[in-house]
Amino acid sequence: MNILILHGVNLNMFGRRNPAYYGTATLDDINTALQNLARELDLRVVTFQSNHEGEMVERIQRAMDEDIQAVVINAGAWTHYSHAIADALDMLEVPVVEVHISHVHAREAFRHESVLSRVCAGSVEGFGVDSYLLGLRAAAGLASSRLLQNTVD
Ligand code: DQA
Repeated sequence: MNILILHGVNLNMFGRRNPAYYGTATLDDINTALQNLARELDLRVVTFQSNHEGEMVERIQRAMDEDIQAVVINAGAWTHYSHAIADALDMLEVPVVEVHISHVHAREAFRHESVLSRVCAGSVEGFGVDSYLLGLRAAAGLASSRLLQNTVD
């Protein structure tokens, strides 16, 4: 099983960015933790980060032609306003899980809305790096029940 992990705008700055909200792990640390969990779960993760909305949209579009069974996305601030990213995710036929390092619902009001929720199976927020790891477990679970379902159908 292959799972695509998408990191959005400003997330390359994890480790140097508002540690009270985001902790001290760098994006490389997060990707390493994801790779370790992927090995444990016997699946493959591919990671991608961009600060450019169009580049992210194009990466999601490419996923339509790839052998990918689920997506985990932390879209950063795009979460709160990018209908373009939501529409791109909506084209995918695989489950999408939204994750956030910080507890967005305990922060400023503009962070309480996610325009991505409508295209996501669920979300995990507020658990630091564990949000990603829980998100990966959730995505793998959803993908394997879909695969099972397709075998039964
Ligand atoms: C974030 C939360 C967003 O509100 C913020 O814009 C980010 C990071 C998180 O992981 O907690 O850039 O997605």
